[in-house]
Amino acid sequence: MGLYRAVARPLFSSLPPEAAHRLAQFILSLPLPWELIGGTPKDPALRTSLAGIELSNPVGLAAGFDKSCRHLDVLGRLGFGYVIGGTVTRDPRSGNPKPRIARYPRRGSLTNAMGLPNPGVEAVARTLSRSPWSGPRLASIADQDPGEVMATHAQLEPHVDGVELNVSCPNVSWGRDRDNEGHLTLLMRQLGARRARPLFVKLPPFRSDVEREAVLALARIAQDGGADGLTCSNTRPVSDRRLSVGAGGLSGRELFPDTVRIVEAVRTATGGELPINACGGVFSAADALACLDAGATTVQVYTGLIEGGPRVVRHIVRGLSEAPSGRSLAPASSPGQDGTRPGRLRRGFGATAGAGERRPGPAGGAGGRPAPGGPEALR
Ligand SMILES: Cc1cc2nc3c(=O)[nH]c(=O)nc-3n(C[C@H](O)[C@H](O)[C@H](O)COP(=O)(O)O)c2cc1C
Repeated sequence: MGLYRAVARPLFSSLPPEAAHRLAQFILSLPLPWELIGGTPKDPALRTSLAGIELSNPVGLAAGFDKSCRHLDVLGRLGFGYVIGGTVTRDPRSGNPKPRIARYPRRGSLTNAMGLPNPGVEAVARTLSRSPWSGPRLASIADQDPGEVMATHAQLEPHVDGVELNVSCPNVSWGRDRDNEGHLTLLMRQLGARRARPLFVKLPPFRSDVEREAVLALARIAQDGGADGLTCSNTRPVSDRRLSVGAGGLSGRELFPDTVRIVEAVRTATGGELPINACGGVFSAADALACLDAGATTVQVYTGLIEGGPRVVRHIVRGLSEAPSGRSLAPASSPGQDGTRPGRLRRGFGATAGAGERRPGPAGGAGGRPAPGGPEALR
């Protein structure tokens, strides 16, 4: 991470957050040797299956970094086991007024109120149909109206290995106002029956007992509706007066202790039957191991990529490879676990994917991937 920390990160940090993001997207569009830049080793022991999608390692890119799905190929070549594009809505969205990202540099965290800006499903489907399908890729989708979610799903599913349904964005008015249980029940009734590829549901985080019950209820609705996996979690709603809308979703290091706790709780509530993607504050191999140890099948990274740069995947994957069999590394940033949780690290991560393998997607997983070209207010 030396060059990134010494040169690129200070440059990115000197720019307003969205200008830094645009610069990063521009750099990703350059024809550079991305595999070499990522430098992620291949370790057969880290191969795993996520609801039938074969991954070279359990480290994914979380939704929101590549909203237009233009750079999924390059991001995959950095070494991610899978990448998620979007969140995509049926119609193009410009999102909330700027400023809509606030950084907390010393806390390794940031808050965004982007409001799901994206070019809309038609443009994204066109992009995906033309881009190389060089590794596992998922599309994140959301919308206010269930009919629009269905339309987006139908257009994107043929171009990806799986779909992540984002029912947890704190930055859109519908995410705050609607009956979330009713909305998810309806969506799962329709999507659960007609999906041809694995369907994941991304849940909100919880802190209080009341929130916990609400999130676990959503997890059970997803499970009963036929979801193939769950992602825990999206950002945590917080206020910040620097944002034009005064509030947004917190990402980064501060989420990590909750992430481990939430994975454990959701795993227990769903009887260990569904694979779980742990998301929130994963920066290091120790963090990833704590999540896998808590019952996650994969981890997803977003803020860690901004903090650590393109070699963050290599560092996490290398750390996982080198972890001694039978115990986890002490989670560096996991207060409340005394840093020394007795490990249950499963070498040969396929073991952690057992739940996913018991519930394969109706298409029999991504192995059966068709040829490419086949078929308001707040984030
Ligand atoms: C600027 C920004 C935009 C995001 N956009 C989305 C999005 O469109 N869809 C989504 O499901 N999550 C989105 N997220 C949330 C991330 O996918 C992830 O759940 C969250 O940041 C926690 O992971 P992290 O701590 O590794 O960043 C966004 C996060 C950030 C920082």
